[in-house]
Amino acid sequence: MKIAPSVLTANFTKLAEEIKSIESADLIHIDIMDGNFVPNISFGPAITKQINDLTNINLDVHLMVLNPLDWVEKFAFDKVEYITVHYESNNFLEAINKIKTLNKKVGITIKPNTKVSEIKDYLKLADLVLIMSVEPGFGGQKFIPSSLDKVKELVELRTNNNYNYLIEIDGGVNKETAPLVKEAGVDISVVGSYLFNQKDRKKTMEDLRWEY
Ligand code: DX5
Ligand code: ZN
Repeated sequence: MKIAPSVLTANFTKLAEEIKSIESADLIHIDIMDGNFVPNISFGPAITKQINDLTNINLDVHLMVLNPLDWVEKFAFDKVEYITVHYESNNFLEAINKIKTLNKKVGITIKPNTKVSEIKDYLKLADLVLIMSVEPGFGGQKFIPSSLDKVKELVELRTNNNYNYLIEIDGGVNKETAPLVKEAGVDISVVGSYLFNQKDRKKTMEDLRWEY
């Protein structure tokens, strides 16, 4: 299982050090919140660009914004591999098409109350499907166990239809929940507060990646 640290809980006064501490990560997860789609504001393109320029690791941008179509182009930096948009946001399909025209990989994500069946028709367009295992907006929340059923459903749909997406999970992943998500079939785990609260982040990522 790959690990994508979410820098949301990093110490932004020491951004370069924080990024260095996760240099063995597989991807860096960038949480963008606009205060409309979710009840919180994180950061925008300027800080994302600084992270982009500080690292050799590819970025996975998670847009928790009401109008992703207004934003995708502003996040299309060279290290950005995936841009992920919410099915529940405005002009979702147009945003996906825009991501494709920018030659970035398309991520589709759903909130905990949205069913996998609702995005069935769009799965063929996805390089990544992100299951939110907490209500988006804040780091440090408790993992919602029913997310595991969504992961299993996505694994089955991928096999039955020959789809190519990777399955990512976001929210509440720690040493207790990591083995469960891995067993359900997750390819990439986002890890925020649990990782940034550890001193040895390299070892923590290795443990989450390999031991389970
Ligand atoms: C929530 C974000 C997540 C979250 C992960 O809106 O999308 O990426 O910050 O943080 P933890 O691992 O602390 O749940
Ligand atoms: Zn996220």
